[in-house]
Amino acid sequence: MERPSFLSRSSSSLSSLLSNDEKSLLPHTVYRKPKIRVRTLLAHCLYRRVILWTAAGIVLICLTLTASRPGFRSERLLDLVKSKQDEKGSIGVSGASGTSGANIVNSVSGGPGTVLVVGSEKAQVPAWRSDMPNWLRFRHLDGFFVGLKALVPASDYRPEHPRPAGEDSPYPLTLSYTGMPTPTPFVPQPDYKSPGYTAQYHEVAPCYLDKEKKIPVPDLYAYNGIVQGQPEPAIGSHSLLGLRDDVCFDRFGRYGPYGLGYSFDEGGVEVGMDTDRTGSEAVWARTGKINYDAVDWGDAQTRCFGSNKKRFSDGEMQSQPSPTASAEHADQSTLHRERQKKKIPRTAVMVRVYTGYQWTHHAVLNFRAMISELALRSGGEYTVHFLLHVRDNNEAIWADPVTAQRVLDDNVPAEFHSICTFWTEEQMRLIYPGQFGRAFTNPSSGDIHGVYRSAHMPLQHFAMSHPEYAYFWNWELDMRWLGNYYELFDRLGKWGKQESRVEAWERSAKYYIPKYHGDWANFTALVHNETRASGRPAVFGPVAFAGRAPLRSELSGQSFIPPSCASRNDAAADCGVGEDADLITLNPLFDADESGWIFASDVTGYNTNLPQPPRRCAIITASRLSRRLLAVMHEENWRLHHSMFSEMFPATMALHHGLKAVYAPHPVSVDREWDLDAVDAAFNGGRDHSSGGRGSPFDLRNEHNHKGTSWYYHSEFAGLLWRRWLGYAQYDGRGPNGGRSGEGTLRGGKREEERAEGTGRMCLQSMLVHPIKWEHPSELEDYV
Ligand SMILES: *[C@@H]1O[C@H](CO)[C@@H](O)[C@H](O)[C@H]1NC(C)=O
Ligand SMILES: *[C@@H]1O[C@H](CO)[C@@H](O)[C@H](O)[C@H]1NC(C)=O
Repeated sequence: MERPSFLSRSSSSLSSLLSNDEKSLLPHTVYRKPKIRVRTLLAHCLYRRVILWTAAGIVLICLTLTASRPGFRSERLLDLVKSKQDEKGSIGVSGASGTSGANIVNSVSGGPGTVLVVGSEKAQVPAWRSDMPNWLRFRHLDGFFVGLKALVPASDYRPEHPRPAGEDSPYPLTLSYTGMPTPTPFVPQPDYKSPGYTAQYHEVAPCYLDKEKKIPVPDLYAYNGIVQGQPEPAIGSHSLLGLRDDVCFDRFGRYGPYGLGYSFDEGGVEVGMDTDRTGSEAVWARTGKINYDAVDWGDAQTRCFGSNKKRFSDGEMQSQPSPTASAEHADQSTLHRERQKKKIPRTAVMVRVYTGYQWTHHAVLNFRAMISELALRSGGEYTVHFLLHVRDNNEAIWADPVTAQRVLDDNVPAEFHSICTFWTEEQMRLIYPGQFGRAFTNPSSGDIHGVYRSAHMPLQHFAMSHPEYAYFWNWELDMRWLGNYYELFDRLGKWGKQESRVEAWERSAKYYIPKYHGDWANFTALVHNETRASGRPAVFGPVAFAGRAPLRSELSGQSFIPPSCASRNDAAADCGVGEDADLITLNPLFDADESGWIFASDVTGYNTNLPQPPRRCAIITASRLSRRLLAVMHEENWRLHHSMFSEMFPATMALHHGLKAVYAPHPVSVDREWDLDAVDAAFNGGRDHSSGGRGSPFDLRNEHNHKGTSWYYHSEFAGLLWRRWLGYAQYDGRGPNGGRSGEGTLRGGKREEERAEGTGRMCLQSMLVHPIKWEHPSELEDYV
């Protein structure tokens, strides 16, 4: 879901509530950019026609010369970028002074075989005043920005932060640099050929990028080890979720297989060539530089699924109150018994695309990676869809194929056209008709069918018309996973499945800070104690409240509680273990009541003379929803005319009806050397040491605490870190004011990464970053 209103909110009407240090979201303009845009060229109808004719001519010529080339699309992009380079001189280099503020490396004598001494920067911690945010007390961390020359085996790794009390900083580090390390393919999918796999599951047919089955789907590359001193995530955990924590990813290992770092002529996207590329060739050693010119991702996904059909259960996975479904179900279970092998449920990844989005080469790379890793490399376990919001209700997309094609041409790169599904708000009015009644409050003054308040309506509709999928990831354009998408989505799903339902709502309401709380068992015990101390019973099963209306399935006596929870008592901790989660969120599921979260009372269709129904919410709508949760939301919308603000609706429906919901504590980094008790106080400062209720970190007055985290809708650190990792110089936000985005010194970028006495380009452990509003410095002007 796009976030224009959030952005305008924090910069205008509510800005009086935010301190000066929080107002600036972005660095100052770093590069001037010609007023020409990739999309404009891609989109322009006239231009297209010219190109098609030109292409037809070229094809004819090529045929005569028997050397056909498919890629006229890239040539257009090529021309564009060439013209940019001419105007700018060189992209991505300017300003990255090699010496200014450069004190990461104190001394070195040059190339391989030398000793590097890597020091910490002299921290400029401002004089703190009580009217400043608490986190300004803490100095910025340096370890994120140290490069590959400082890679060490995981066993030797010592993080700069968090450190046990009394342990010294790992800086200065003395490292023997013996040459660039070599990355290796990173494969988080099961070993499909192993006897263990084939004994249980159907055989997996490999998938290809092309119809002729000549181009296998590549793997991305990782470095074995961690950059010495790199901070560990303060919140969440790799190992808890089953994510590898002993490898790191640089930009070429992550995106090189999909077109980063090579030219349009070679079938790449020609970005990343303006950054340090030392040793990057390793990622193309096996596959060569893949030519993506002719790839049709929808076609590739369809072929991949087609050759793997027998592996999957197709549709109506969960018990759904539908008379037609039960007959099919019986058939299927007989089939299951006949063929002993386990079937795998299918998952759709729904990327929320919208008209007007400015596509960039970096965004293209990100979705090539997503489709390759999740859909193709998994033999069709996932399917990526673009749910394309056509914002102009007057476009005749349903009536006229030419209009539909124009909307696609104008708004989505051609390689993704075949994975797009249109939707409009007008269509939602048709699907969810009738009167919705009053909201307790409606701070955004938005329409109930609008994407801002009811982002899930089109997802519900999609799920109802696609029974082949059991799970649906809701995903947004300005999110990036620094790592392999299959590893992320698969491990989150598995972790959610093995979580107990006992006190799951209470654990999910709290940020997990491993170095402060101990391991997950400690955390579970702590939450248990805190719940008991709160005097409130733990949530279990459907909640009762005044004015509650039952679903049809509830009226007919059905329940979402699994048999393992039948004899519920506190000892039955296996209740729900092995049950796939209906909702997996990427931020805590907090109690919205009295939380100070601005939309906490945007609750529609309930009796406003009664107290508001109990609510849970997770900020950022990226999450996995089960078919049955979406069916519940669908029924609540169309039949009961209930609705709630987008980030609150799925979690609250799960709460009301006893579905299984978990917050997956994925790794989140902080940019400063916070004391961990300060992290806990800031992020779990709500009622009963949770993130909800009074004192919540999602209170408008407390949200600033997230500015320096890698995952929050208004985070500043996420973009800074991501762009430095991509190889572009960024203002480091450090300085006498205590650090404002866009201030400080321009650091990183090609010149700094390449200099002999530097540590090279960055290599980070896997992490989610959001929001990524721009990537290449030339986009900055578009955004501001
Ligand atoms: C976690 O629990 C174990 C076993 O009860 C205990 O030894 C350890 O001290 C706990 N750690 C923390 C950080 O509470
Ligand atoms: C929970 O409470 C018990 C009994 O009061 C105590 O022994 C235990 O240390 C507490 N555990 C945690 C993790 O707080």
